Amino acid sequence: MDKKRYVLVGTGGRAEFFYGAIASQYKETSELAAFCDTNQTRMNYANKLLQESYAYPPVATYKTQDFDRMIEEQKPDAVIVTSVDRTHHTYIIRAMELGCDVITEKPMTVDERKCQEILDAVERTGRNVRVTFNYRYAPHHTKARELIMDGAIGQVTSVHFEWLLNTMHGADYFRRWHRDKRNSGGLLVHKSTHHFDLVNFWIGSQPEEVFAYGDLLYYGKENAERRGVTDFYERATGNPNAKGDPFALHLDENAHLKGMYLDAEHEDGYRRDQSVFGDGISIEDTMGVMVRYKNNAILTYSLNAYMPWEGYRIAFNGTKGRLEMTIVEQSYVNSGGDKSLEGALKDKRIILFPMWEPPVEIELEEESEGGHGGGDPVLLNDIFGTPAEDRFHRAANHVDGARSILTGIAANKSIRTGQPVKVSELVKFRG
Ligand SMILES: NC(=O)c1ccc[n+]([C@@H]2O[C@H](COP(=O)([O-])OP(=O)(O)OC[C@H]3O[C@@H](n4cnc5c(N)ncnc54)[C@H](O)[C@@H]3O)[C@@H](O)[C@H]2O)c1
Repeated sequence: MDKKRYVLVGTGGRAEFFYGAIASQYKETSELAAFCDTNQTRMNYANKLLQESYAYPPVATYKTQDFDRMIEEQKPDAVIVTSVDRTHHTYIIRAMELGCDVITEKPMTVDERKCQEILDAVERTGRNVRVTFNYRYAPHHTKARELIMDGAIGQVTSVHFEWLLNTMHGADYFRRWHRDKRNSGGLLVHKSTHHFDLVNFWIGSQPEEVFAYGDLLYYGKENAERRGVTDFYERATGNPNAKGDPFALHLDENAHLKGMYLDAEHEDGYRRDQSVFGDGISIEDTMGVMVRYKNNAILTYSLNAYMPWEGYRIAFNGTKGRLEMTIVEQSYVNSGGDKSLEGALKDKRIILFPMWEPPVEIELEEESEGGHGGGDPVLLNDIFGTPAEDRFHRAANHVDGARSILTGIAANKSIRTGQPVKVSELVKFRG
């Protein structure tokens, strides 16, 4: 059997999820041909992990200006995109123009213009774009879809959804490139793309109109000063002012973080350990959004990034009852520990309240192994293995990718303008 050939762009923390799978459980069907990045040291480190952790031979490396040459020389079937969000569209579009399919990390991109360019490129080239929404595959998320799809609460009329990011994982967005809204689209795009995708998936609809407020009310220098903080630092590693600060990340105390970021800094100046109370943060940490869906359902959503616990509560109200779900997730720092702990669960509960009947606690499968509530391994099988027929249609394409970011992109516009935003005015789905 011919192996499917892959190249990967963006060899940071998330990349190993994909190349590790190709190099281990899917090596009979898949083959990794090359890495591409702006940073040679980070590519070399990925090659080191390939050899040491997976006994896989090192692959060719290409700087990003040689992307076209990589495609020409390596002739991949598909390009995996795990670079900084702001750059996704460049590689998604060019890969398709050069005849490849694409597997891209979320968010598909960060604004409406880039989103339109991707949609147009799919039409033009006829290639496939796959967006890796791992959360859809978590068994409890699929269960919620099943209950709603099978009519347990009738027609969904409204959804109340609050997501909490804690002072470990939530804080991490304010240390990294994500803190600049141009890179990530802010958390309403970068993070909420997962949540808005889940809502689209759960209720089987799509956003129509969005209104939002958002602000930076906890992180950032001004907020810290208001609370009486007087000791500041720019980066944590090696800085005496950072000692004892629970928000500080010391790159030299973790071999993986050191190898991937500290040792690679001299090439691009990227600092992964910036103070969350520094200047220059342009994303929000406190957000409230209202969405009207095509099926008339109304969503009230909030995201706060400095909470004492991490997870979410959601309630779906319908014409035949109500479904409540509470999920508490494990804390983690991206690339700072065991991958399978990313989004791992500490508690999960789904309760169905049928109208006129007593509530029922829904029985859930034992917590599965693997990150994102057991969603990660199922997603990998769907991408690299032999997926079974899926009545829930969990595999997400460019249209799902677009719809999931358009809520956040519309929310960002609403925050800027103070007005509700119609999603249909942002991009056109042709074809
Ligand atoms: N689905 C999930 O659960 C999940 C989890 C983590 C990250 N992600 C996604 O993975 C992507 C990467 O995140 P990460 O945490 O690995 O970040 P990271 O900072 O560790 O890695 C980003 C990589 O992109 C490279 N890069 C920077 N500019 C580039 C450019 N112009 N062209 C090509 N490469 C460039 C950097 O050098 C770095 O190697 C993001 O899109 C993020 O949203 C998804």
